[in-house]
Formats: sequence, C-alpha cells, structure tokens
Amino acid sequence: MAEPSSFPIAAVIGDPIAHSLSPRMHRYWLKAARLAGEYGPLHIKPADFADAIAMLPRLGFVGANVTLPHKEAAAAIADETEDAVEAMGAANMLTFLPDGRIEARNTDWIGFIEAVKAEAPLQAAARGRALVLGAGGAAAGIVYALQRESWASIVLANRTHEKAQALASRFQNDRLDIIPWAEKEEDLGDFDLIVNTTKLGMLGASSLNLDLASARKAAVMDIVYTPLRTPLLREAERCGLIAIDGLSMLMRQGAPAFQSWFGAAATVDEGLRAHLIEALERDGPA
Ligand code: ATR
Repeated sequence: MAEPSSFPIAAVIGDPIAHSLSPRMHRYWLKAARLAGEYGPLHIKPADFADAIAMLPRLGFVGANVTLPHKEAAAAIADETEDAVEAMGAANMLTFLPDGRIEARNTDWIGFIEAVKAEAPLQAAARGRALVLGAGGAAAGIVYALQRESWASIVLANRTHEKAQALASRFQNDRLDIIPWAEKEEDLGDFDLIVNTTKLGMLGASSLNLDLASARKAAVMDIVYTPLRTPLLREAERCGLIAIDGLSMLMRQGAPAFQSWFGAAATVDEGLRAHLIEALERDGPA
C-alpha cells in the first residue's frame, strides 16, 4: 500500500476526459488558496471503472469527480449515498473515507440551482414555474433541484414522451407536469425559468429554435458550454431576457468537491470564468 500523499490528490474520471475543464478549475482554486494539492484527468474505460476506484485510495487520492459514462456506476459502487444520489441514481463525486468506505454525492443539481440564484435572483426567489426541456440524466438533476427548492410548478417536455414520463415517475410530485414536445413554445410567458438540457444547440447538433418573444419574465439557461453562447441564449439576449450559460453551472458543481477535499473556499468569480473560456478557445469543444 502506498504511503498517504503529503498533499491531497483528486481526479476527474471519464471516457472521454481529455477536454474536461475540471482540472483547470480545481488547479485555479488550489492556486488561489495557495494550497499544495493536485487534481488531474483520468481516462478510465467502463470495464476498468471498479478496479480503478478500488485502487485510487491506495494511491493516496482523497476523492474523484465522475463524469460520463460513469455516473450510474459511481452511485452503485458507493457504500454511502446521499439523498440526491438516491433520487437520481447517479453520482458525480466520490470521496474515499479514511475507514475505506466510499461516499457518493451528486453536486450537479447544486451547480444548477446556485447558478440560477447567482444570475437570476428574482426568479430564484420567486420559485415559480419552470420549463425543463429534455429528460436525460441532466434533466433529472434539474428536476431534483427544482423540487428540492419547492418551485411551484415544473413542466417537462421531451422529444420522446415516454422518457419524460419515466423521469416524472421517479419524482412523486404533483407539481410536475408533462407537455408534448410540439407544444413547448406555447405559454412561454408563464414561465420564470426555461432550461434546455437536450443536445440541441451543442456544436455539431442542430439548434433549438425557440421563439422567446412571448417569454416576458423567464431566465433562460442552457447547460452546454460548447458553444458558450448557444442559439437559445442568443435568442434570450435578443429578447432582453437573462441568459445563463453552461459554465455558470459547471463552476458551481465543482465548488463543493473542492471545499470538501481541499478544505478551502472555492470562489466562483470572473477570473475563473475567463480562465475556463481561455481553455475552451484554445482547445476547442470537448
Ligand atoms: P444527458 O444524460 O446528458 O442529459 P441523454 O440522456 O442522452 O443525455 O439525453 C439527451 C436529451 O437530449 C434527451 O432528452 C433527448 O431526447 P430523447 O429522449 O427524445 O432522445 C434530447 N435530444 C437529443 N437529440 C435531440 C433532438 N434532435 N431533438 C430533440 N431532443 C433531442
């Protein structure tokens, strides 16, 4: 067994992983806090996930963030899971406890809700009606967050209706409704928040063409950050609405892991945002 490292080491695990912004983000925070520590990317295939997780604590790692396609496996491998992990069946943060047990958390929903609070404080305070487009893993985190924050109404729309039903059935919430994908543009004026969790608008995918002219009071959020200003966010800006991009959420899902593993505050500021945008511009999309 390796001697414990003299400073904390953590990682982000995924397949692929090369373009992950997490190492850059955590190193920014390490530097800002003047802390010794390391955070790097690990490219692990699904077949090797369990072996890798068993090995990391022996190598001195204190924890790991977990991204696609391992989030479900991360939830399953843990000895201790918090409520958010149970609700979503997915984890993005594993902590290797001193007694050998593994603790799983999911901070994706925290990143989302903290981004809304920071960038759309009036809407966050109102906790009114939210429209969630998509029904994949990312949508599950967002529905969980909105439910946990007691939003008055959550409306789901997904191209494949059955997937929206499957997602809704996991959350027993009578304030959660499903509308047909074809009707997502109706009644936009009623919403305080519109969130796109689909692939539409990502580089290489077709765009989400939503006419936001009637969305009088909504903040509009896109969870992707390649590109940073998606067609949906450009449309929101054109209509004078608050536009929240995927970096805003990414930074805030990472902060709880940093605080927990490295024991210092992780400040989400313009310096961090500029630092991450620089990497996006240099390396191109993930
Ligand atoms: P994630 O876990 O990252 O959310 P996912 O589970 O693959 O990813 O979900 C992708 C979402 O994008 C789904 O809601 C998907 O809709 P379907 O359930 O109908 O597949 C949505 N999506 C992908 N391509 C789409 C398209 N061309 N039009 C509309 N929705 C699309």
